[in-house]
Amino acid sequence: MNFLNTLDSDLAQLIASAMRFKAGDDLSKPLAGKSVALAFFNPSLRTRASMQVAVYELGGNAVVLEPGGTSWTLEHREGAVMDADKTEHVAEFVRVLERYCVAIGVRTFAALKNWEEERTDPVLNAFAKYASVPIINLESAMHHPCQSVADMMTIREKLGAGRKRVVLTWAWHPKPLPMAVPNSFALAAAQMGHHLIIAHPPGYELDEDLIETARRHSSVEITNDIDAAFDGAEVIYAKSWGAKQFYGDADRDLAERAQYRSQWIVNEDKMSRTDNGIFMHCLPVRRNVIVTDGVIDSQASVVIDEAENRLHVQKAVLAELLRG
Ligand code: CP
Repeated sequence: MNFLNTLDSDLAQLIASAMRFKAGDDLSKPLAGKSVALAFFNPSLRTRASMQVAVYELGGNAVVLEPGGTSWTLEHREGAVMDADKTEHVAEFVRVLERYCVAIGVRTFAALKNWEEERTDPVLNAFAKYASVPIINLESAMHHPCQSVADMMTIREKLGAGRKRVVLTWAWHPKPLPMAVPNSFALAAAQMGHHLIIAHPPGYELDEDLIETARRHSSVEITNDIDAAFDGAEVIYAKSWGAKQFYGDADRDLAERAQYRSQWIVNEDKMSRTDNGIFMHCLPVRRNVIVTDGVIDSQASVVIDEAENRLHVQKAVLAELLRG
């Protein structure tokens, strides 16, 4: 059993388990005497720190590896002739690690070079293919499920149970970013039965198949009007992402998005249109670019609680996968 995206688990059960860990009602140590490998191809603050703490607090030991940094560069393509810069294949990396560790967490971002390839999550799926221990997605090209379950837990804590009016809004950022967070947020919000409104400029559509999947779970509206999207919202979730059509050509994306800088920001005016909405972001966030100081420092902002919930959710994920 793996945790590659939010469809791999019952989110309500995971959140209930995370809440028990947070309240101190679950003091179990399902990882006692066990180790978990955490492979980070990309930088991290929250995911890395919260996974290390989660493994430790469940009685285990975290082994952090940085392929291409403090561990060997990794090839993931099947049948690759490894005569270039890659030193080790994921096949051996995984098979060796599972002799030491009971699960492997992987962070591997999109390179934003080739949409059709990256949307298949090739690196993460290579790990899943070769592993016989659970693989936990710590943010791949397409999904960031640990983040989005923590987001859903935060909405549940702040606003109670039931269907909410949830807005996922694109925001201007000085460079194109991957879509994993908005994809997972959209999917998880729909799985939880929320009414989801996705606001983005024309050309910044999320993956069509993913939206279709979300629509099978709940109602999804898509709009290019950021101001109208905020009307009556109970949750504002801000995130920037790159346009699929410009993968491999960042300069064209930058030229296209330049027109959106002043309008596509979460500020006090927009928040005043909401129904006392909470402000959410996965962090890290660029202040006064994605969101104004006035919003992120206001009572409406729940970003630090959201980050804390990463710890509790990841304990729940680890416990679900590894409780013997
Ligand atoms: N939200 C999130 O995944 O943060 P990090 O990139 O710092 O891990």
